[in-house]
Amino acid sequence: GKIRRFKWEVKYEFKSPDCFEKLVITVNGKFPGPTIKAQQGDTIVVELKNSFMTENVAVHWHGIRQIGTPWFDGVEGVTQCPILPGEVFTYQFVVDRPGTYMYHSHYGMQRESGLIGMIQVSPPVTEPEPFTYDYDRNVLLTDWYHKSMSEKATGLASIPFKWVGEPQSLLIQGRGRFNCSNYLTTPPSLVSGVCNASNTDCSRFVLTVIPGKTYRLRIGSLTALSALSFQIEGHNLTVVEADGHYVEPFTVKNLFIYSGETYSVLLKADQNPKRNYWITTSIVSRPATTPPAIAVLNYYPNHPRRRPPTPESSNLLPEWNDTRSRLEQSLAIKARRGFIHAPPENSDKVIVLLNTQNEVNGYRRWSVNNVSYHHPKTPYLIALKQNLTNAFDWRFTPPENYDSRNYDIFARPINANATTSDGIYRLRFNSTVDVILQNANTMNANNSETHPWHLHGHDFWVLGYGEGKFNESEDPKRYNRVDPIMKNTVAVQPFGWTALRFRADNPGVWSFHCHIESHFFMGMGVVFESGINKVSNLPSSIMGCGQTKR
Ligand code: C2O
Ligand code: CU
Repeated sequence: GKIRRFKWEVKYEFKSPDCFEKLVITVNGKFPGPTIKAQQGDTIVVELKNSFMTENVAVHWHGIRQIGTPWFDGVEGVTQCPILPGEVFTYQFVVDRPGTYMYHSHYGMQRESGLIGMIQVSPPVTEPEPFTYDYDRNVLLTDWYHKSMSEKATGLASIPFKWVGEPQSLLIQGRGRFNCSNYLTTPPSLVSGVCNASNTDCSRFVLTVIPGKTYRLRIGSLTALSALSFQIEGHNLTVVEADGHYVEPFTVKNLFIYSGETYSVLLKADQNPKRNYWITTSIVSRPATTPPAIAVLNYYPNHPRRRPPTPESSNLLPEWNDTRSRLEQSLAIKARRGFIHAPPENSDKVIVLLNTQNEVNGYRRWSVNNVSYHHPKTPYLIALKQNLTNAFDWRFTPPENYDSRNYDIFARPINANATTSDGIYRLRFNSTVDVILQNANTMNANNSETHPWHLHGHDFWVLGYGEGKFNESEDPKRYNRVDPIMKNTVAVQPFGWTALRFRADNPGVWSFHCHIESHFFMGMGVVFESGINKVSNLPSSIMGCGQTKR
C-alpha cells in the first residue's frame, strides 16, 4: 500500500455552525475536519499539532482496528498520554479493510467541541464492492451545544448534579440553524455569544445531484447524546454498508443512526428534476425539543438556494418513542450474501454487562455491573506492558455476571450505590467472547435510555436483540449464527438487551463504552485486555504522564 501523509493543526476558533458563535475545534481551519481518503492496505501518517491554548488532546480512529499498532488507538488514559499544547504527535497505522470510518477526539468530552471527521477506505481494484454508484458523498451528523465542554463536564461531576440537557441544534456536515430569536427572550447577560441568522457558517448544507445518477452517501453519526433519524423527501435510501461491512441491501425511508455508527446508502436521483427537496435529520429515542436539522437536495441545474416548493416539515419524522421501528431496522441488517463471515459456533466465555444509573458518594454516575468506570493517570497499555503494578487496581476483577438472575431491570436500582474502579477485564488471547449488554431502569421511575456501545480494536458479530431481561437458557437459541452483520457500534434499546460475539485476537488494551459522551464521562464503559505479551515495544511518544517516563 501507499503511505499517505497528513499534517494537521488542531485549534479552537470562533465559528457559528448553527448561527450562534462559540468556540469550535477545527482541523487545519476546517469543521468538520478534512476527510481521509485511502485504499485498503495504505498506511496513514497524521502529524498532529496541538495548537490549543490550554487543552490536551488525543485522536481516535473510530472503526480502524489498529492491528499491530494498539498504541495509536488514540484513547487518552488507555493507550496513550495526552498530547500537550504545543506538542506534535505522529499517528501511524494501516487501514486494513474498505469501508466508512470516522475520527474524533478521545480526550474527556472534547469530541463534542468539534474534533470530528470521516475516513473513506476503498477496496483494492481486484475486489470491487458489490454495488455501483456514480458519486461518493459524506454526510456527517452531530448534535450541538452552546455550552462549553468544561461547563458541561463540571456540571456532570458536581453535587448537585447538572445534566447537560438536550442539544441546541443538530448539524448536517457541520451546519445547522438555531433560531436566534429564541435568545431575545433570554436576559442579555446570559447570552455570551452572537447569534446571527445570516452568518455564512450556518448556511444550509446543499447536496447537489445530477438527475439519473446514483450517489453513495456515507452517513456517520458522532452525536454527543442524540440518536437520529435521517430522511430525504421523496426518496428511498438503500442500505449497503454498516461500520465497514457489506449489508444485504434493504430500503428505508427513515434511516436510524446512533452515535458511533456509519452507514452507506445508495440514493438514486430519480424524482422530478425540476425542483429541490428537503433533507432532514431529527432526534429519536429521547423526547427532545431540539428542532430537526435541514439541508437541501439540489437537482442540477436548479439553483442550489432555490427553496423546495413544499414546506420544510414535509419529511415524515418517526415518533421519538417508536422503539419498534428502530429495532426492526436493526434486525433487518444482515451480512451481504457472498461476504458472510460466520461467527465461531460457540464462545469460550459469556460476560453479561448490566447497564445501570447509580450514585457513587452522592455523585450521579452510570455503572456496568455496579462498577463505574474511570481511568488512571497512567495509561493501561503502558502500565501493563511495563508492569507498573501500582498504576491501577490490578487485583480487582470486575464482575462478569452481576446478579443477573435477581436484578429487576424494570425497577429503579434497589441499592442505588455503585462502586468505582479502574480494574479491567483480562481476556484470554484468541478466545471467543460473548457480551450481553443488558439495559435497565434508570434512577427515574419508568425510564430506560438507548445506549450505543462501541468496541475498540475489533469488530463483533451482532447475534441478537431482545426486549426485557436476557434469558441465558432460551435467548441464545434465537441467535443469528448464519449471517449476522459485523459492526463496531451497536445500540441497546430501552429495557432491552443486545448480544454480540468477538474474537479477542488483537493484542492490546481496548476500550468498550457507551458512545454517548456524557454517559462515558459518567462511567459507562469497561476496558478489555488481551495478548499484552504479544504487544511489541511501545513508542516513547505515547509516554510522559503518570508513572511513565519518556
Ligand atoms: Cu468513537 Cu471510544 O469512540
Ligand atoms: Cu449511554
